[in-house]
Amino acid sequence: MDGTWNDGHRFSGRVAMVTGAGGTLGGAVALGFGREGASVVVGYRSSRGEAESVVAAIVDAGGTASAHQLDVTDQASVVRFIDEADATYGRIDVLVNAAGRLDEADTVRFEHMSADAATVLLTVDVVGAMRMCHAAIPIMRRHGRGAIINFSSTYGNGVNPDNPINWVPVTYCAAKGAIRGLTTSLARDLAPEIRVNALAPGPISGNWEQEWGIAPEHIAEAKGMNPMKRFGDPREIAETVLFLASDGAGYINGQVIHVEGGWVTAG
Ligand SMILES: NC(=O)c1ccc[n+]([C@@H]2O[C@H](COP(=O)([O-])OP(=O)(O)OC[C@H]3O[C@@H](n4cnc5c(N)ncnc54)[C@H](OP(=O)(O)O)[C@@H]3O)[C@@H](O)[C@H]2O)c1
Repeated sequence: MDGTWNDGHRFSGRVAMVTGAGGTLGGAVALGFGREGASVVVGYRSSRGEAESVVAAIVDAGGTASAHQLDVTDQASVVRFIDEADATYGRIDVLVNAAGRLDEADTVRFEHMSADAATVLLTVDVVGAMRMCHAAIPIMRRHGRGAIINFSSTYGNGVNPDNPINWVPVTYCAAKGAIRGLTTSLARDLAPEIRVNALAPGPISGNWEQEWGIAPEHIAEAKGMNPMKRFGDPREIAETVLFLASDGAGYINGQVIHVEGGWVTAG
């Protein structure tokens, strides 16, 4: 079987498209692809400055990248984004759907659910990922192969309903469960040319206290209940995405890979 094995430049000559790349995990993933020789299409919705910093870091290191605005809930925006990437690079080898919504309305107990907020959540995370796959697949097919990586999530260990890290909210889990179904069924639909897999991260380091107002004791509780006694590092997520996108993962298809330190993995 031909392919590029892990020589540190697994994506030379390939194009990797990352949505939500102005965010924590998408940004780390985009940097990882840039480091390994891909031309990187950095998608951002509102975080233009962050996306441009990612592009600058890749270009400064001798790579190729460009930032493009994208709203995955807007079909015209998705089509424009794909067209820009196609016009710039002429191919898409990898699509990473890292765009995702988590607003305050998505972190409440189910009895306080807003149907409007849940609709927006599903529209961004699930329909947005579908729109991206649907638009990118014809370009991938031109070169006879491709890899798609979606972002699901763990559902938490459910031990403390007051701690939104250990007890992950219902609407968010419902959206991430839909990503699992999308991943598995799309993998079968697109094989053998295009592989589709997903990541289910546990809590990954970020601005939990500042952005989400998570109480320090809840952060300590969540870390204490993880066998690794810490949150994940965005670079650990990036490494897993790169592996799934690489030829070395050529026989992995339709899987949801848990990257969560053994936190909730069933035995
Ligand atoms: N971090 C974790 O611990 C964790 C754990 C499990 C799963 N995940 C999942 O991993 C993915 C990435 O999470 P993250 O931590 O990197 O979150 P993040 O820092 O909030 O980044 C998510 C990005 O999604 C983008 N986005 C939101 N709505 C969008 C839309 N309509 N169109 C296009 N882009 C949109 C945002 O773009 P702008 O900023 O440009 O507006 C944001 O930068 C998400 O699906 C999340 O649910 C994360």
